[in-house]
Amino acid sequence: MDILANKRIILAVTGGIAAYKSAELVRRLRRCGAEVQVVMTQAAAEFVTPLTFQALSGRPVRTELFDTDAEAAMGHIELARWADAILVAPCSANTLAKLAQGLADDLLTTLCLASDAPLAIAPAMNRLMWSNPATRSNLDLLQTRDVQIFGPGDGDQACGETGEGRMLEPEELADKLEAIFKHHTLAGQRVTITAGPTCEAIDPVRFISNRSSGKMGFALAAAATEAGADVTLISGPVQLETPAGVRRIDVISATEMLKAVMANITTTDIFIACAAVADYRLQTPATSKLKKNAEELQLGLIKNPDILAEVAALPEAPFTLGFAAETEDLKKNAQAKLRAKGIDMIAANQVGHKQGFDTDHNALEVFWQSGQHSLPQASKYKLARALIKLLADQYDSKSKTVHKTENINDQNP
Ligand code: C5P
Repeated sequence: MDILANKRIILAVTGGIAAYKSAELVRRLRRCGAEVQVVMTQAAAEFVTPLTFQALSGRPVRTELFDTDAEAAMGHIELARWADAILVAPCSANTLAKLAQGLADDLLTTLCLASDAPLAIAPAMNRLMWSNPATRSNLDLLQTRDVQIFGPGDGDQACGETGEGRMLEPEELADKLEAIFKHHTLAGQRVTITAGPTCEAIDPVRFISNRSSGKMGFALAAAATEAGADVTLISGPVQLETPAGVRRIDVISATEMLKAVMANITTTDIFIACAAVADYRLQTPATSKLKKNAEELQLGLIKNPDILAEVAALPEAPFTLGFAAETEDLKKNAQAKLRAKGIDMIAANQVGHKQGFDTDHNALEVFWQSGQHSLPQASKYKLARALIKLLADQYDSKSKTVHKTENINDQNP
């Protein structure tokens, strides 16, 4: 699987002859497994019809800010939140100027302003428009705001001139878009993640489990891989595709999960316990299917091992991040769990009211010994990226402290 797989991309097309190349870009992104929502300005629709983009993206193209039908399906703010990245390709001099000034007079510019997703532009214009001081200063402004500028290339232009201002080719744009999702904050680190529910057998056909979908753990595996880590994902039974580049080990019960974790722990630098491990299991599951003869059935349950606490208690424990799903007193309970389990960080979320389990969105309060940070409501993938960044910071400062202490001890034998 590709790094762009399942990424939600808004491809914003403005009015320029290079718009025809964006049709091929949609195909490429789709082939990589990305979901692509095309948004066009009115001028763009003069060059390529929305129908072409609709056929290639598999989604109706959005062109109007005030389209009641389209807004009823997904409002523009919702669409802005939906995106994992926005790429404006081709980006005309006009749209580039509007983005620099923060205008929001059409759907495209409104989305760019209303989204916190990374924004990239692929300028395409006549060479003199490109080198005009107005365009240059707009570009400088965008760069100071971390807008990524893809290209432009040099060569023959549709207007008959030769010079800088050609939109990059679809292949180059797809590569650069992929690079947006990669960073190096966990380069070379070995990360083990547990995810999903565990299933505890009652008899050969029945089990005790919970509603965990595994989405958060899988999103963390993708985000850690994008941060350069070498990721092992130990998952209970879920209906999810393995993220690109991740080594996956499937387990069913808590006992199996513990065994798989311990088999990998000596080669783990960071352990993330995201699984919703069943707290109890049957002492002795029935070997044949239970009959429903009796009016009452008593199931003798015993406590499962606490995988995270066992890992944290190891003499050479890796850096540990746990999760806490709380219905009340989130901060108090999460901090108590951080201490009780002896872990480095904990990410807590409120559960209930359709929040937390089996949803695509969530919000997290993250705590560590000397600090805390709120990650507001976002898609699990966006949350995972933000959480991996926080984790990398804490991991880094802990490693530095350990290193410093080791140096002091070396100097004072
Ligand atoms: O104690 P509680 O179940 O609330 O703790 C939740 C955290 O501990 C999660 O990170 C979960 O993955 C981990 N856990 C575990 N093994 C268990 C129970 C929870 O690793 N048996």
